[in-house]
Amino acid sequence: MRKKIIAGNWKMNETPSEALKLVETLKPLVNNPDVDVVYCVPAIDIVPVVNAVKGTNVHVGAENLYFEDKGAYTGEISADMLLDAGVEYVIMGHSERRGYFHETDDDINKKLLKALEKGLKPIVCCGESLEQREEGITEDWIRMQIKIAFKGVSADQAKGVVIAYEPIWAIGTGKTATSEQAEEVCKAIRETIGEIYDEATADAIRIQYGGSMNAGNCKELLAMPDIDGGLIGGASLKPDFGTIVNYNK
Ligand code: 13P
Repeated sequence: MRKKIIAGNWKMNETPSEALKLVETLKPLVNNPDVDVVYCVPAIDIVPVVNAVKGTNVHVGAENLYFEDKGAYTGEISADMLLDAGVEYVIMGHSERRGYFHETDDDINKKLLKALEKGLKPIVCCGESLEQREEGITEDWIRMQIKIAFKGVSADQAKGVVIAYEPIWAIGTGKTATSEQAEEVCKAIRETIGEIYDEATADAIRIQYGGSMNAGNCKELLAMPDIDGGLIGGASLKPDFGTIVNYNK
């Protein structure tokens, strides 16, 4: 049985002092031993949030990392910096980073290899645009994203990776994929992992859905056999996040 993983992606929201207030608000709401709970927070919030969640069930993630170890890369953050600050998880390949900051599949592959080498737990995002869905190339597109991202990753390493399927047309739009649409692609992702590696790896890897997941639709999405969690944007900044974490109560 795969343990569900519910992660908030705070994106570029919450100043350090606002972050502390949000952690306090959510503290009594996010206790569920059946679920791994992660807050992926802006870089400047990492240190205060790591301190604020000490002694709770909440794990902290970053929203990005750079694939070089150190040096002249102004504005970037290394895996060692994240680890030293107490970060466990790291998102990579979010469609906002691919779109606004021109990240390529090869960059994401390098980030995944670096995160795994250093012992960070990666959350690798993939997803199609509305145009791609309408052209009927969703599964081909996602398979390609996954195959490039996992180049050079061993089966044992892959078992510990989390993949987040986030259809771009569902992010921040209030237009959630139906649970059938989300399940169809998450299943295809698991099959792709099975083709690259083997059945044991496909069975072990956790796949999240992300895109307008909220307190109202989470139960149905999380009931699907290949959906092992959620990556939540807007609703992770509100008490609703507690409802999502406790979707099975
Ligand atoms: P929303 O939940 O705001 O649609 O964002 C989803 C997302 O991009 C999480 O990474």
